Amino acid sequence: MIKVENVSFKYEDEYVLKDLKFSVNEGEIIAIVGKNGSGKSTIGKLVSGIIKLKEGHIYIDDIDILNKKNIKLIRNKVGIVFQNPENQIIFNNIYDELAFSIKDVSQKEIEEKIENALSNVDMIKYKNHELYTLSLGQKQRIAIAETLVRNPKYIILDEPTSMIDSSGKHKIHEIIKKLKKSGYTMVCITNLAEEILFADRVLILDNGKIAHEIQKKDLLEKIDILKQYNIKEPTVLEILYKLKENGIKLDIKDFTVDNLVETIKGRIFNEKSN
Ligand SMILES: Nc1ncnc2c1ncn2[C@@H]1O[C@H](COP(=O)(O)OP(=O)(O)OP(=O)(O)O)[C@@H](O)[C@H]1O
Ligand SMILES: [Mg+2]
Repeated sequence: MIKVENVSFKYEDEYVLKDLKFSVNEGEIIAIVGKNGSGKSTIGKLVSGIIKLKEGHIYIDDIDILNKKNIKLIRNKVGIVFQNPENQIIFNNIYDELAFSIKDVSQKEIEEKIENALSNVDMIKYKNHELYTLSLGQKQRIAIAETLVRNPKYIILDEPTSMIDSSGKHKIHEIIKKLKKSGYTMVCITNLAEEILFADRVLILDNGKIAHEIQKKDLLEKIDILKQYNIKEPTVLEILYKLKENGIKLDIKDFTVDNLVETIKGRIFNEKSN
């Protein structure tokens, strides 16, 4: 479990985060949304131990991040993927890049871990390629693989697709779905409608605090809150909202296009047979 308790943070004079509180349960995916400069990346960096916490507490599985001795442990438990993979990548060669993150195991285990991580991001055939030959989307998949080889329990994705074209985005979304199925606990920092729907719970960050917390099942009811913060609502929710305004209420739990189509088909079939 990730526990963030009464965290305040400033880089210079002004506080970016103010008495922030939230937690993430094991196996849960949360989305953190909020306008530019609202402190989303700062939360990611604090929780993964990249920047030093000064006020408040953060616990990762009850391990106190404030204790310097725990930082290495926490960095192993919490992986982070940044917006721009080029800031994360150091080596020219993909194999070297991934091998660098694996410590204290035999050569055979290094090979296995690299193969596993690369197959998880569907990049196995690029194992010995040079990174400069890859697209930005493929580089982001390598950045995710690099996080995976460290065997983290928690993964923070900081706007992982905001710089990537739509086909690359789709591929990364498939990977996020796969990671979700494998049981990773994830924090997805995003303002993208499709990515909000990966989450079990959405936290809206405003003025250094969580202004709203919305469970996925309540998203349709609370769509006005997303609109209020200029967060573009997912298309399926928008359709459901418009239908509801027109007196057609569809009961959908999983807001996917497939689910929407199935529900509408079911409705039409029922009406015909009545
Ligand atoms: N290293 C730094 N030094 C000084 N100020 C910083 C630093 N990093 C971020 N800030 C400032 O802190 C505030 C929060 O930044 P942060 O990057 O956490 O926001 P964000 O919500 O991730 O924004 P974005 O949507 O643009 O990614 C911003 O005002 C930013 O300018
Ligand atoms: Mg950011």
